[in-house]
Amino acid sequence: MTILENNELHLWSAVLTLDEQQEIHYLTYLSEDEKYRADRFRTPQLRQRFIAARGILRELLGKYLSCPPSDIVFAYGEHGKPSLQGANSARLNFNIAHSHDMAVYGFTIGRLVGVDIEKVDDHYKEAIAKRYFTPEENAKLSRLAEPQRIQAFYCIWAYKEALMKAIGKGLSYPIAQFSVFFDNKCHLFLENINWHLETFAVCEGYASAFAVEEGIKKICYTEHHRFREK
Ligand SMILES: CC(C)(COP(=O)(O)OP(=O)(O)OC[C@H]1O[C@@H](n2cnc3c(N)ncnc32)[C@H](O)[C@@H]1OP(=O)(O)O)[C@@H](O)C(=O)NCCC(=O)NCCS
Repeated sequence: MTILENNELHLWSAVLTLDEQQEIHYLTYLSEDEKYRADRFRTPQLRQRFIAARGILRELLGKYLSCPPSDIVFAYGEHGKPSLQGANSARLNFNIAHSHDMAVYGFTIGRLVGVDIEKVDDHYKEAIAKRYFTPEENAKLSRLAEPQRIQAFYCIWAYKEALMKAIGKGLSYPIAQFSVFFDNKCHLFLENINWHLETFAVCEGYASAFAVEEGIKKICYTEHHRFREK
């Protein structure tokens, strides 16, 4: 069993490439609707990444809740945010994000949490910045030299997406209407909640961040090691 205390945030990362045996193993954890979703991906690689991301999510939740991964039942919010259904959910909140072959996960007791991971491109995505970032953020970005500008772009993007995901409203949230401070930590008051945003390093070539309700005293980050048949 993994213990998560009230004021802790647990972050995990996982690689989503599986061998055949691992894929069969993680598939056994999935519910019928998840298997249906898996089968609708365009390529075997996308299907496998989904199976890995959900399988590992179930495995981690099973460790926090002391139950088999396949017993976990998800409920979905109005905008698709998954949460735990059932009396045994123990106020355990979680969020997951994936990009290419990497996933990140965040877990708290009772506090809203959102995570994001983005594979970093080597060119600046001006159209996205203009559409989703505030004029103030765009003005600050335009004053930076190229490598720092790309880094700052991904920091803003990951902060905004993690925050939207913590709030649970996804794309419906007017993210171009609030600014974040792009440093490796940022504090923000939004939707009557004080938020703590922070970047965390997962691996080379990816940018990741979390958004969590203020009050976290301890943050633990772990790399997930997958099931292996002996
Ligand atoms: C879910 C959403 C919030 C992010 O999607 P994404 O970037 O494609 O994917 P991520 O990897 O970050 O997150 C996907 C996971 O978030 C979770 N999720 C889905 N809807 C969610 C919501 N409303 N709130 C929180 N989490 C959500 C799911 O677990 C999903 O993974 P799974 O269904 O495969 O298990 C998407 O609906 C969205 O609104 N994206 C906004 C994209 C955007 O505007 N980007 C510019 C930001 S500046």
